[in-house]
Amino acid sequence: MKISTDMRFGQAKSLRRGHRTVVAGGAGFIGSHLCDHLVQRRDTVICVDNLFTGSMRNIRPLLNHPNFSFLHHDIREPLSIGGPIDRIYNLACPASPRHYQRDPIATMKTCVIGAVNVLELAKLKSSRVLQASTSEVYGDPEMHPQHESYVGHVNPIGPRACYDEGKRAAETLFFDYHRTHGVQIKVARIFNTYGPRMLENDGRVVSNFIVQALQGVPITIYGSGRQTRSFCFIDDLVRGLELLMESPSDITGPCNLGNPEEFTIEEIARKVIEQSHSASELDHRALPEDDPKRRKPLIGKATTTLGWKPKVSIEKGLDATIAYFALSIATKNREATVASIDSARAARERSLRRREAAGRTEMN
Ligand SMILES: NC(=O)c1ccc[n+]([C@@H]2O[C@H](COP(=O)([O-])OP(=O)(O)OC[C@H]3O[C@@H](n4cnc5c(N)ncnc54)[C@H](O)[C@@H]3O)[C@@H](O)[C@H]2O)c1
Repeated sequence: MKISTDMRFGQAKSLRRGHRTVVAGGAGFIGSHLCDHLVQRRDTVICVDNLFTGSMRNIRPLLNHPNFSFLHHDIREPLSIGGPIDRIYNLACPASPRHYQRDPIATMKTCVIGAVNVLELAKLKSSRVLQASTSEVYGDPEMHPQHESYVGHVNPIGPRACYDEGKRAAETLFFDYHRTHGVQIKVARIFNTYGPRMLENDGRVVSNFIVQALQGVPITIYGSGRQTRSFCFIDDLVRGLELLMESPSDITGPCNLGNPEEFTIEEIARKVIEQSHSASELDHRALPEDDPKRRKPLIGKATTTLGWKPKVSIEKGLDATIAYFALSIATKNREATVASIDSARAARERSLRRREAAGRTEMN
């Protein structure tokens, strides 16, 4: 296993000559699946991550692979990586409101300063660079469904602005580096994506619902549950990101990547309950500020220019995600049981030793 925590990446280790690809945010949910895919495709992958929301667990199977390296680094700091770089995917940014609102200033800096650092690297190395932008750039849309030409409806001072406006500014920087310095850019506007390796506690719809259903506790629905979302399975998204990255250089995006099938939040909750054989009920709570009411991508651009459209049905995607969380919860429960047995045993041994010591004192 080779984990590099410094900047020495001059010596590439490769099984064959594929792309040398940097994945910033590669230890996160989407990033780790992308790393898996690129390594399988025989790219040499350098995963750059500060582990803010990502985890080594996501990339553990890759750590022994000769075509994979991990660089512990915060993209708010300039990136210095030796040797040629063909491709850079910039996914580094917390994606769930719970995490990006935890330190909103850091989120904005990650979006903006991080984009500058990634673009400077791309400029220096003449690499192609893809920005993981988001449907949040459309804000609470007045136009439905959302086409790439829609310029959005974002509250610049609300609690979600650090992310929404940060991502909008990052898009601006990408297009300005393209126009000013000729950097080859690709901007993907990613809509809600779900699948294995989402964080259990990140407050996102699918992971929240599944964990609550598996635990048999009430499923929290914010608002009436009639607000809509569309959910894209991770495998479809990774394929879309790669197709966009490898598309002809005149295709810059922005390009929507998401599943246009629209469900109300309540429909998703009921599907999760059914597919996880849960007895959970629905628990309605107040809607958070600036929560978008409708969200659905128009994907005509991705379909015509990339030949991409999602293939995985919501039922299949939910099955895979439920299986992942069921295993992860079972493992945690087993670990918790072992830990509580160990701590009970340690407490018993401590009390035994205390009693023995007290007995010795009495005898003296
Ligand atoms: N998951 C979605 O539904 C979705 C939707 C739209 C856009 N996106 C975008 O896709 C990207 C990946 O999202 P995700 O769902 O995998 O989120 P995630 O939180 O699982 O992954 C983000 C990764 O970036 C890392 N990171 C955060 N700040 C960093 C910094 N300053 N320096 C280095 N690394 C940093 C985190 O540790 C994590 O590994 C994000 O940019 C997000 O905005 C995701």
